[in-house]
Amino acid sequence: MPRLRGGTAPGLPADRPADPRLVDQFGRAATDLRVSLTDRCNLRCAYCMPEEGLQWMADERVLTDDEVVRLVTLAVQRFGVDEVRFTGGEPLLRRGLEDIIAATSALRTAQGRAPETSLTTNGLGLARRADRLAAAGLTRLNVSLDTLRADRFRTITHRDRLDDVLDGARAAARAGLAPVKINTVLLRGINDDEAPDLLRWALREGYQLRFIEQMPLDPQGAWDRDSMVTADEILAHLEAEFDLHHDDPATRGSAPAETWHVTDGTHIGTVGIIASVTRPFCGDCDRTRLTADGQVRNCLFATSETDLRTMLRDGASDDEIADAWRAAMWGKRPGHGIDDPSFLHPTRPMSAIGG
Ligand code: 5AD
Ligand code: SF4
Repeated sequence: MPRLRGGTAPGLPADRPADPRLVDQFGRAATDLRVSLTDRCNLRCAYCMPEEGLQWMADERVLTDDEVVRLVTLAVQRFGVDEVRFTGGEPLLRRGLEDIIAATSALRTAQGRAPETSLTTNGLGLARRADRLAAAGLTRLNVSLDTLRADRFRTITHRDRLDDVLDGARAAARAGLAPVKINTVLLRGINDDEAPDLLRWALREGYQLRFIEQMPLDPQGAWDRDSMVTADEILAHLEAEFDLHHDDPATRGSAPAETWHVTDGTHIGTVGIIASVTRPFCGDCDRTRLTADGQVRNCLFATSETDLRTMLRDGASDDEIADAWRAAMWGKRPGHGIDDPSFLHPTRPMSAIGG
């Protein structure tokens, strides 16, 4: 038996049923894996990263490509994970990304299903890589974009790269990574009037726009429940200019977005709102997360992590790693509790957790 260094992972609790999947005490099973491949980013979105002074993870802490693939393989083959999304930081900054995607898309669950393999990216450099990503087996991707105005883009991201993002999204659609989804966070006083313009643009380009309520993950701790832009407000802005038809909530499953069919008179499309704060969907959550340094987080807002990297490097077996991961998920709380007075902000910034 390999010897594990102290404090790495708890064993499986005795009251947990003998289920190979990542089940928790509230009857949920995690089948959607989010893997952060780096904490680095070439933008500095205010709600995610400080403008300066963030210490990157030391290289030796970051999982190698082989370590990532070993953990993803375990998740797909043993836990039945059938959706794998790579995030960051900015995942395009990870050199081995195409190889990791190719290895992931070649996996099969015990039932013989190939996992959906997707990416959340800021789009910088995507124009050059979209074809290679599609060839590696990527199924689809989300591009983060909060504004179509160059001055606002600079205010939010602290960089002057709007055109690169627009080129990246277009290249992804051309490469067949469609439908391209656009993730948008509206910030009070900065871009909160832009929902209709963004939707007109998305309909014209054939993208699926999804507004995400801002969550308390900003490094400054400046998030404020009373001033955040809510789903109701976004919907009211859209309804003033578009004909929206709510999709049947019964078809939503564990998807975090509520969706509407929408038309501008010429184009038909879909728009979504992810109301993580005002209409939490934790009861249907099917996510498990791995940070770039190999820690399992059972929730974006988890206050503890399980260290799989040390286990990997100390020679733990697949069985031992799988059990540590199962134990981590068994302890998942019923919800994030953002509205609870005892809510604690995660100690990592969003860029180091993975979206
Ligand atoms: N609240 C909501 N969404 C966020 N994202 C990053 N930080 C936050 C936050 N505080 C989104 C980004 C990106 C995805 C990775 O997560 O816009 O689309
Ligand atoms: Fe899942 Fe945590 Fe997000 Fe809730 S906050 S949906 S439990 S990841």
